[in-house]
Amino acid sequence: LPRILSGMQPTSDSLHLGNYLGALVNWVKLQDDFDAFYFVADLHALTVPTDPAVLRHRTRVTAAQFLAGGVDPERSAVFCQSHVTEHAELGWVMNCLTAFGEASRMTQFKDKTAKGQNANVGLFTYPMLMAADILMYDAAYVPVGEDQRQHLEITRDLAERFNTRFGEALVVPEPYIVKGAAKIMDLQDPTSKMSKTGSSPKGLIDLMEDPAKIAKNIRSAVTDTDAEVRYDPETKAGVSNLLVIHSILSGTPVEEVAASFAGRGYGDLKKEVAEVVVESLTPFQQRMTELLADPAELDRILATGADRAREVASTTMARVRDRVGLLPSV
Ligand code: TYM
Repeated sequence: LPRILSGMQPTSDSLHLGNYLGALVNWVKLQDDFDAFYFVADLHALTVPTDPAVLRHRTRVTAAQFLAGGVDPERSAVFCQSHVTEHAELGWVMNCLTAFGEASRMTQFKDKTAKGQNANVGLFTYPMLMAADILMYDAAYVPVGEDQRQHLEITRDLAERFNTRFGEALVVPEPYIVKGAAKIMDLQDPTSKMSKTGSSPKGLIDLMEDPAKIAKNIRSAVTDTDAEVRYDPETKAGVSNLLVIHSILSGTPVEEVAASFAGRGYGDLKKEVAEVVVESLTPFQQRMTELLADPAELDRILATGADRAREVASTTMARVRDRVGLLPSV
């Protein structure tokens, strides 16, 4: 089977609906047709100063959310990035292939520093560690949301550069970004993406949130002043976002969802979207309670996943070390 790989940062106590619909839903689907590697990007999370106990908790919770969402650890390798130390090592090699100006142009770094965030050097070299994550596993596809596109581009550039300089050794990956789902919007500001750091509590839906609060957030979502339910992300961002959320969770094409609201108002739309979301998240939340009740089992799953990942990573790293001219240790 061809390989796919993706990761999420453990930077909050709960994933949000954007992470779920933009990435996790596809992770689950793709594991039928691919050899899948899914990891918690705990090294990347160190770019945000966090209390160690909180980081440990969030790392377990993030892994548990992969499983609660339907990732099957029997088929897919589920692991922590830091458990496979080759990631940091290949990250260093990628740093040394990246021009300073090239890294300076990455929008994530520019945006965060422009907002006055006190950036560390880890945030600057974040894309090169991400390239290492991907290239380590010879991943053909990387299922992510739209916001990761630039990171995929630099990863492809680095793989090509490595291959040109040192001979074919790394697979050049393709992003796997599903149109429509790839950018779930903030409920209060539907022209910005839903995000852990950028969205207000009312604009965000945490997967672990109380169902009553989820329904309330959806009922107070910002829409527009005409009254027609129609999919048109350009001029009707709020309504279109609700339609997309409904469409993915109900498995109905977005135009069909829109047509089912012909002659009805936004109140009906919001009510039904809230129902669909709560219906999907209730079993997810139940599964989370079970998973978190047995942290030893969770740690065991992560250990097995790391063993599988290390097998691939050690082979890639041996190849990379040899190609770049690092002396083997005998
Ligand atoms: P992270 O942790 O910010 O987000 C995890 C995934 O969720 C997607 N996503 C969204 N999709 C649709 N709508 C939204 N509003 C939305 N918000 C987030 C993201 O695109 C992502 O797929 N740099 C990565 C983590 C990472 C990684 C990797 C991913 C590290 N190494 C290697 C893939 C491969 C990140 O910060 O994702």
